Amino acid sequence: MKTKGIILAGGSGSRLYPMTSIFSKQLQIVYDKPMIYYPLATLMLAGVKEVLLISTPKDTPNFEKLLGDGKRWGISIDYIIQDKPKGIAEAFIYGEKFIGDSQVCLILGDNLFYGKMDFLRRAIEANEGATVFGYRVQNPESYGVVEFDKNNNVVSIEEKPKKPKSDFAIPGLYIFDNSVVEKTLNLKPSPRGELEITDVQKEYLNLGKLNVEIMGRGIAWLDTGTPESMIEAGTFIHAVEKRQGRKIACPEEIALGMKFITKAEYLETVNRLPDCSYRDYCLRISDEYE
Ligand code: TTP
Repeated sequence: MKTKGIILAGGSGSRLYPMTSIFSKQLQIVYDKPMIYYPLATLMLAGVKEVLLISTPKDTPNFEKLLGDGKRWGISIDYIIQDKPKGIAEAFIYGEKFIGDSQVCLILGDNLFYGKMDFLRRAIEANEGATVFGYRVQNPESYGVVEFDKNNNVVSIEEKPKKPKSDFAIPGLYIFDNSVVEKTLNLKPSPRGELEITDVQKEYLNLGKLNVEIMGRGIAWLDTGTPESMIEAGTFIHAVEKRQGRKIACPEEIALGMKFITKAEYLETVNRLPDCSYRDYCLRISDEYE
């Protein structure tokens, strides 16, 4: 089954004001690259080559300027404008035509994953219905929270509960079969006027078609919605990159490593980059790949 990717990168970013009065949250810097590179890299590492980016009327042209059509990375990137931030699940309505008859992997533009992405590739391959992840955090009340029974069956899913029934938050990375479009079209907005991603998950849960995989602590999941979490993410990326001498979420390198582009295409792309340490890096590591 073909899998298409959607990056949802709109929203109001009010918690990052005044930074977001000019540029959207997902165009802000996380150490040495724009935030949006990280979720894009996650999709690429999962083998997803067709991507739709959804953002605001103001910011979509900036994303287009930054990422282009994706060809230089051996992928395709389409763009659609979300008029107003009326909920994460709206992605499936805006994305209906793009999704076609594929399944879809949705990632939020401010979610950062670091670690071996095999779990995601496997989940995409095995998905029937919906697959989401459970990740233990200290502040589950800020997220959708999943509750399990003794046998690890999912009992409930709650959006930002005041009293969370578990420590397992659901990261902004979801896999849905093609019926997600129809399910979302039939969804009613929540009291806060949004089409809630948790309500979509509940639809699958009620049909017995929601698979929740535990995302282990070998994976780092960071979100970057507040100034503090942004600097924490930046510091994390800096520490790992400095130690290893390797970049996290470098789309050129991933495209080459995933064989989305040939070595010749890679060098052509890299040689077009401005003279800078990013280009030096791309040239330096090219010998490691065939
Ligand atoms: P949030 O962090 O929940 O919201 P926000 O980005 O508007 O920020 P703030 O709370 O500070 O005002 O959104 C999570 C992600 O989903 C983020 O990448 C923005 C995106 N999003 C949309 O693109 N459209 C939407 O309708 C919503 C609700 C979120």
